[in-house]
Amino acid sequence: MSKTLVIFYSRKGANYVNGSIQNLSKGNTEIVAEYIARAVDADLFEVDTKNAYSTDYMTCTDEAKKELQADARPALVRYLEDISAYDNIVVAGPCWWGTYPMAIFSQLDRLDFTGKKVFPVMTHEGSGLAGAPAALKKHCKGASVGKGLAVHGGDALQSEKVVTGYAMENLK
Ligand SMILES: Cc1cc2nc3c(=O)[nH]c(=O)nc-3n(C[C@H](O)[C@H](O)[C@H](O)COP(=O)(O)O)c2cc1C
Repeated sequence: MSKTLVIFYSRKGANYVNGSIQNLSKGNTEIVAEYIARAVDADLFEVDTKNAYSTDYMTCTDEAKKELQADARPALVRYLEDISAYDNIVVAGPCWWGTYPMAIFSQLDRLDFTGKKVFPVMTHEGSGLAGAPAALKKHCKGASVGKGLAVHGGDALQSEKVVTGYAMENLK
């Protein structure tokens, strides 16, 4: 069986779910990442920023927009340096302004993806996979990009069946 790593970022706190702001103790993407890990016995690596984004939703959207416009690479608490043990790398994150949070790129840009297969997974409130596949093409040089999965953020908790099916089909 192939060995899979899930690199993910997920934000706890106030989030927009089906039209209203709710307080999430676990982020939507973290829930999905854990379902993938359970399905194919994958390892998890959480991208964690040194400066946390605001727990306030609107403030966070402003912070994220500024980082996107600046093509920023926010500093992380810890970095993964070596992915040589893995065949498949799932990159899971929330859709922020049509792509991954810049913190994901802080991590991806340090890794050697030669010969790996990468899979875009995104939780969202309507944009679907948006720019995720293109972002992986750009930031995971030397990797081939496999089938992606978009999960509506508000449905993350109920998505285990769909996520497990996707993982079993693509990550074995
Ligand atoms: C800064 C920010 C920007 C967002 N931009 C988008 C967007 O462009 N399209 C979209 O469908 N959802 C957008 N959302 C909603 C999130 O993608 C969605 O709530 C996601 O499931 C959050 O995942 P998380 O709980 O793992 O952080 C945005 C949320 C935030 C906080």
